[in-house]
Amino acid sequence: MTLTNQRQFATTARGLQRDTPPMKLFEKAKKYGIWNPSEIDFSQDKLDWQSLSPDEKDVILRLTSQFQAGEEAVTLDLLPLIMTVAKEGRIEEEMFLTTFLWEEAKHTDFFNRFLIEVTGDPGDLSRYHLDSYRTIFYDALPTALNRLTHDQSPEAQLIAAVTYNMIVEGTLAETGYYSYYTALRNNNIMPGTTHGIDLLKQDESRHIAYGIFLISRLVAEHPHLWEVAEGTMNTLLMPALGVVTEAFACYDPIPFNLDLDTFVSYATMQFQKRFDRIAKSRGAALSEVYQITHTAIDQDNA
Ligand code: MN
Ligand code: FE2
Repeated sequence: MTLTNQRQFATTARGLQRDTPPMKLFEKAKKYGIWNPSEIDFSQDKLDWQSLSPDEKDVILRLTSQFQAGEEAVTLDLLPLIMTVAKEGRIEEEMFLTTFLWEEAKHTDFFNRFLIEVTGDPGDLSRYHLDSYRTIFYDALPTALNRLTHDQSPEAQLIAAVTYNMIVEGTLAETGYYSYYTALRNNNIMPGTTHGIDLLKQDESRHIAYGIFLISRLVAEHPHLWEVAEGTMNTLLMPALGVVTEAFACYDPIPFNLDLDTFVSYATMQFQKRFDRIAKSRGAALSEVYQITHTAIDQDNA
C-alpha cells in the first residue's frame, strides 16, 4: 500500500500562501531571528555580577533558573505541535515553526552561556523551582503537548496552544523577562544580558503572535471549543501568577526595588489583552482572524 498518488504538494498545487500570518511571521523571523547568542559580550556583566549583594545574586539566579529550564522545556515540548501541523499539510505554519524551534534552542543556549560565563557554574538550580513553577513546567506543559503524539484533535491542539503560547510564553515568559529586564536596566548593569533579553523578547513576540493566531483559528473553526480554551486559561492562570508571587515572596525587601504588584498587573494585563482577542475569534470567519492577526503583527503587538 502506498499513499504516493494521494499526495499533494501545496507549493506545486495551490501555491504558498504568502499573505497569511504564519508567512508574515516567517519573513520577520528570517530578518530578526538570526542573532547569535555566542556573540553577546558578557565582559561587563561578569564585573557587575561580582558587585551584587547576596540577595541580588540570589534573585537573578532564581529568575535565570526559571528561564533556563523554561527555554529547555519549550524546546523539548514543541515537537508534537510541529508534527501535528505538518500532518495537516499546513506548510506555511510549519515553515514558521522551524524558526520557532530554532529560536527556543538559541534561548536555551543564551541562558546557559549567561550561567557559565557570568555567574560561574552555579551548580544545581532546581531548588528554585517551587510549587506553581512545577505545576506548569513539570506537568501541565509536557502533558498538553505530549498528548498530541496520540491525539491530534482540535481540542487537544487548543489545550496545547493555550498552555504553551498563552500561559507559558504570553503570561509567564513575558512577565519574567519584563521584571528581569527592569531590574537590570533600572540599575544600569549587565548590558550584554539586557541586550540578549531585548532580542529574545522580539523572538517571543513572534511566537506569541503565532500561538494566538493558532488558538484563534481553532476557535473560529470550532466555536464549541471556546469553553475548552476558556477552561484551560482559567485553570492555568492561578499557577501562572503563582510562579511570579512565589518567587518574589522569598525576599524582604525584594532586591533591585522590584515591585511585585507591577508584575502581577502586567501579567494580568497581557493575559486579558490576548483573551479578548481570542474571544473575538469565536465563530468568526477565517479572513477576520487573518485580519486581526496581521494588524497585531504589523503593530508588533502580539
Ligand atoms: Mn524562548
Ligand atoms: Fe518562545
